Order: sequence, then C-alpha cells, then structure tokens
Amino acid sequence: MNSRITTRDIRRMKSSDTPIPMVTAYDYPSARLADAAGLPMILVGDSLGQVVLGYDSTIPVTVEDMVRATAAVSRGAKQALIVSDMPFMSYHISAQDTLRNAARLIQEGSAQAVKLEGGQVLAGTVRRLGEAGVAVMGHIGLTPQSVHKLGGYRVQGRGEAAAARLLDDALALEDADVFALVLELVPAEVASAITERVRIPTIGIGAGIHCDGQVQVLHDLLGLSLDFTPKHARQYLKLADAIRSALEQYADDVRNRAFPTEAHTFHSKPARAAGEVTELPPAEETSK
Ligand code: KIV
Repeated sequence: MNSRITTRDIRRMKSSDTPIPMVTAYDYPSARLADAAGLPMILVGDSLGQVVLGYDSTIPVTVEDMVRATAAVSRGAKQALIVSDMPFMSYHISAQDTLRNAARLIQEGSAQAVKLEGGQVLAGTVRRLGEAGVAVMGHIGLTPQSVHKLGGYRVQGRGEAAAARLLDDALALEDADVFALVLELVPAEVASAITERVRIPTIGIGAGIHCDGQVQVLHDLLGLSLDFTPKHARQYLKLADAIRSALEQYADDVRNRAFPTEAHTFHSKPARAAGEVTELPPAEETSK
C-alpha cells in the first residue's frame, strides 16, 4: 500500500509543475472512490451544509457535523491528504476555542490539515495553529461563510484595488505558512498573478486555468446537485437523472411484483427442484 500524501508532497507538486486535482467528499463511499481514482487531496468541505444537509448556506454547519464527516472520509481514503473545513465561527471566538476545534478535526476526524476562510486578518490564527503543529490551507476570494457580509456569492477581486487586496491576503497567508491556498471565484488574471507570485500551490475554484490545482464539489462534477450547477463546474455525469430513473424502476418493479424474484429469495427449507438453491449460504453471507 502506498503511504499517504503529505503537505510536503503537495508543495512539491507546484515546484515540479504538476497540476493538483482536488475534490470534496463528505462520506466513506465517496472518499473511497476519490482515493481509488488517485485524487491526491480530498476536501471535507463545509459545502456539506448545502449539498448533503440541505441548508441554504454553509453557515449552520457545526464542528460536530465536520468531525463526523471527516472521520468517515478518513476511514474511506487511505492515500489522499485530507483537509477538513473549520466551520463558521469555529476559529474566531478565541485562540483556545480555535485550537480545540482544530484538534477535534485532526484527532477525532483524522484530517491531516484544516482550512480557514479569510485573508490577512487570519495570519495570526494560522501562525498559532502552525505552532501547535496543525497544517493549514488558506481560502480567499469568495469566502462562503461571509456570504451575508459580501452580499451574495459574487466574483471577488475585480478592479485594481480589490485585486491588490487579494494579492496582499495571499502573501500574508503564505508568510503565516499555509501549505496551499484556495482561490474561489476570482478573475483568471488575478488568480494567475497570485499563482506566479506565491511559492505555495494555489487551488482554484472558478479562478481559471492558471492555478496550480483545481478543487470542485463532488456533487457538481457528478451531476448530483439537484437544483443548481455553478458556471465554474463541469458535469462529468448526470447521476441525479440516473438515480431517479433507477428508483422509479425499482418502485415499478415492487408495484408490479417483478421484484424480488426467486434469485433474491431465501427459503426455510432447502429447495429440491433441479436448478434451484440446494444449500443456504453461511450465516454471515445471508445477514448482509
Ligand atoms: O466547502 C467547500 O466545498 C469549499 C470549496 C468550495 C473550496 O470550501
């Protein structure tokens, strides 16, 4: 078995000009699949609030929600580096509270790193986490936890002053020692300038082709988001349609008594007719 990807490996991918694909996962099966597909980094994003829990933003997501999801992802992915989002207000109230919450994601969730949303103002927090041995990924541009302050999910860094502020944020976070930086909904030109300027990998989402890596929400890639696919996502599958039609087929089969068939059926006595099951399988097979 290969060993797990480290933050050092991710940094090296920038130096060797190797693009870094990253995807979100929120549970054991999707983490296993992402790992099997060879994704080097998995984000247990607080987007779980919208895509899994049905909230209309990431704001209601709790540390408890993130710990549970992160632990499931960690059980599923044995090779990818797992980054877990610190949810809304879990890293603002006090230094102690921040450390305690990060520790839960690392100890109980088994994440290798945490991600925080925000720029220069978070440099001190990133440093304190680093002093405690916690690897941190930064996240600037559109920071969804601040959606109400930003006035909606809008592209950030348009215009010279806003672009300069984003670059300052990126440099401050690099200086505070984040190992990588998410750039969300940022003009491609601005993301490209930041990517050239910093030594840490930039991971874009809606930030153009020139970032060192890309991150996408799994449900957007697979066509599992029921209501909305953002402009920056490419749908590689239409799973929602496929799942709905499979469920309709199942419901029809039950209604028409076409399922279960003899092949799905157990009997209290061994069947005697030729071609039928003559022996019950062992107990552990029948209980699944
Ligand atoms: O929670 C999430 O999915 C994220 C990505 C949008 C980067 O933070």
